[in-house]
Parts: sequence; structure tokens; C-alpha cells
Amino acid sequence: MMDENEAELSGASQHRPPKPSPTHIGNHKLNPSTLMMGYGFDPELSEGSLKPPIFLTSTFVFENAAAGKRFFEGVTGKRPGGAEGLVYSRFNGPNQEILEDRLSVWEDAEDALSFSSGMSAIATLLLAFVQPGDVVVHSGPLYAATETLIARILGKFGVTWLDFPAGATEDEIAAVVEQAKAKGRVPLIYLESPANPTNALVDVQAVARVRDAAFPADARPPIAIDNTFLGPLWQNPLQHGADLSVYSLTKYAGGHSDLVAGGITGSKELINTIRMLRNTIGTITDPNTAWMLLRSLETLELRMTRAGENAARVCEFLRDHPKVESVGYLGFLTEGRQADIYRRHCTGAGSTFSLYLKGGEKEAFAFLDSLKIAHLAVSLGGTETLASAPAAMTHLSVPDERKQALGITDNLVRISIGVEDPDDLIADFDQALAAV
Ligand SMILES: Cc1ncc(COP(=O)(O)O)c(C=O)c1O
Repeated sequence: MMDENEAELSGASQHRPPKPSPTHIGNHKLNPSTLMMGYGFDPELSEGSLKPPIFLTSTFVFENAAAGKRFFEGVTGKRPGGAEGLVYSRFNGPNQEILEDRLSVWEDAEDALSFSSGMSAIATLLLAFVQPGDVVVHSGPLYAATETLIARILGKFGVTWLDFPAGATEDEIAAVVEQAKAKGRVPLIYLESPANPTNALVDVQAVARVRDAAFPADARPPIAIDNTFLGPLWQNPLQHGADLSVYSLTKYAGGHSDLVAGGITGSKELINTIRMLRNTIGTITDPNTAWMLLRSLETLELRMTRAGENAARVCEFLRDHPKVESVGYLGFLTEGRQADIYRRHCTGAGSTFSLYLKGGEKEAFAFLDSLKIAHLAVSLGGTETLASAPAAMTHLSVPDERKQALGITDNLVRISIGVEDPDDLIADFDQALAAV
């Protein structure tokens, strides 16, 4: 134990550190849904407040100069492991740190970072790992802005890419990785599963085997995966060989369509590499949004479970309707490679799916314009049901041949089911289909 003088000289904090939150009762490990109510927050350090206050400050006062130096050693990477104390709100803050602790809990990850949007998380991740001449290997399709970022923005800095289709076999993935290695250094393997908007699943276990066989142990590119559609409740890719799990927290984690944020979970080492860049460019989320996410995470399991149950009921109804051509819902996968990946990687089918109506744009628009409960809006994962037409909206800029190849046809309606009463939703879809 240091005495007070020694502590002052070394810069160590004399504040009482937060009491560690319990994660177990005896041998019983507490479930993430329980830990969301208090994990990582010590009320005694905030006047006994049950909930964390929102810390609206741009900077934090150091106890002494040596403490400031010590904290900056962490911020700048001179001392590994990040800052040991609060410094400046571009680097860290109490609300963001509690949020990051709670994001880690869901995936049993060593560490996590929060970001101002899903895209700023993805951009910070990519910029942290790539350099000119590199070849990013990725699954396809990716969320449109991620494809733009990799192809057009990183392309300006001499970075190229090669992709394999989401459902590719191990041999097909291996062939693309070999091709990429022949072109340049592979800094990162980037996946999205299920893919937006096709719901196609990537075999993360196969990607990890390919990566491990193709690169020596000390030069393996990390595998990052966009886990927005099923995480954290229905898919934990870190258990299947991915190193980083990436989120648009705007979707299910935020869950109320009232905020924009992003997150990344993974090992301390990789998270520290990304943290260094986030510290430099300031893509951290703000305290108010972090606080809103803490509130959202308290009901994450409830919301996602209800939305998932609702989607199963709605999809059963839609599947047999005479005006419906088909329903692309993970819960209907029964055979083939996609069903095999689903059984190995996922614990639930989610609540976002594709509805193909008989007809084309006219029928899709008539359906969308007739909805009374579901809202006509892009995005997903909120408490309210949303529906949109990707070919005419989110994917309007995708070239026609690529749209056809990906199944983004004019008769496709994307639906994200919320937590409303399922019979009310079925009644709404029934009357909207009648209007087609
Ligand atoms: C799969 C996926 N990843 C990333 C993003 C980007 O997230 P944000 O809008 O929070 O930047 C989205 C947004 O729709 C998405 O669907």
C-alpha cells in the first residue's frame, strides 16, 4: 500500500475507486440482463444516485500534475491499457465507460468502445488497421455506407478490397483470401452477418479456420463482424472465431429509434488499437446518448425477445398469404448451407426480414402506403414496426445488375417488427395486403 505522499508523487488517485459490481452469487454467474441494472456504476460516488447522472463536462480536473501525466501516458499509448482516469471528453467519460462495461458483458468480451454512430465505429475500426497497399477482404453484401467507405473512401488512400458472397463455402473463402494475399497485405477480414438487406449468413467458423490456415500465428489479420442484426441476444460471433463484434447501437441496442450510436467489443489488445484512433479523431459517443443507451440496455432482452416472438407470428401469417411470393425470414431456414450456418451460429431468428410480394414496385408501394400501424421508414430494431422498399430507398444507388444479383427486387419490402401486440400487427398487414 502506498502512503498518501507516495500516492501523490506517483499520480495515483486518492479517490476511492468504484466498488466492483457483483458478477456472481457463489458459483452462480449472473445473466447480462440482470447486470444491465447496475453493473459498472457505484452510486456512492454520485451522491447515492440510483442511476448514473449525465456528466456534461468537456474536461476533468486532475488531483495533481503527476496524475495528469500518468493519465496522458495511457491516452497516448505510452502506457498500454488506456487512461487510468478521466481526462477529456473526447477520450473518455463516466457514462461512456459504464456503457462500454455493459456492452462487454453481453458478449463476455474483455473490452468495448462506444462511438457516435455505427458508421463512425466502422470507419474508426478500418482506419485503425489499414495502410496504403493493403487489401481488405470482406463478405458481401455489406451495409451500403460500409461498402462505400471501403471501396470509395479507403480506395482514395491506396487500399483495395476483395469480397466473397455471404453464403460462400470454406473453399470459396480460402480462394478469395489467397487471391488477396497475392495482391498485398491483408489487414482485416470484415464480415456482416446477417447481411443487410439479404439476411444471408456468413460462416464465421469457416472464415476463422481459413484465416488461421492462411497466415502465421503472429501475423493474423483480425476478423471483425457487423453484428447489428442479431447481436447481442441472438448471435455471439466472438464465440465462433471473430475477434471484434461491431454494432450500430442505433438499432436493437438503442431500440427506441431515438438515438444514433455505435459500439465495438473484443480483446483488450485490439480494442486498445482502435481506442488510440478514437482518441485522436473523437468518434466517441456523447454522455447523453451513452446514458440513453444505459436505459435501453435495461430492457434489451425484454424488447428483443418480444420482437422476435412477434416476428415469428407475423411471418407465419405472411408466408401463406395469396398475395405473398415468399418471406425471407431466418426462422424458415430448414435445409442447406444457410440453415446449417444458422443452427451453428444463431440462437434466434431476429425480427427483421424480407417480404417479397407478388408483382413489382406498384404492389410494394400500395402495400406500404396502406399500413396503419407499421411506419414507412428505413432503419430497424426499434419498439415500433417499420417497413420500407430497399430498391427505391436505401439501395436506390446500387447498380441494377448488383441489385438483381442480391435479390433487391422492386417487389421487396423490408420489415422490422417491434414490440406491439402481434394480433394488431397481423391485422395491419392483412388489411394492407387487401389494398394491394
Ligand atoms: C448492418 C448495419 N451496419 C451499420 C449501420 C450504420 O449504422 P448507423 O446508422 O448507426 O451509423 C447500419 C444502419 O442501418 C446497418 O444496418
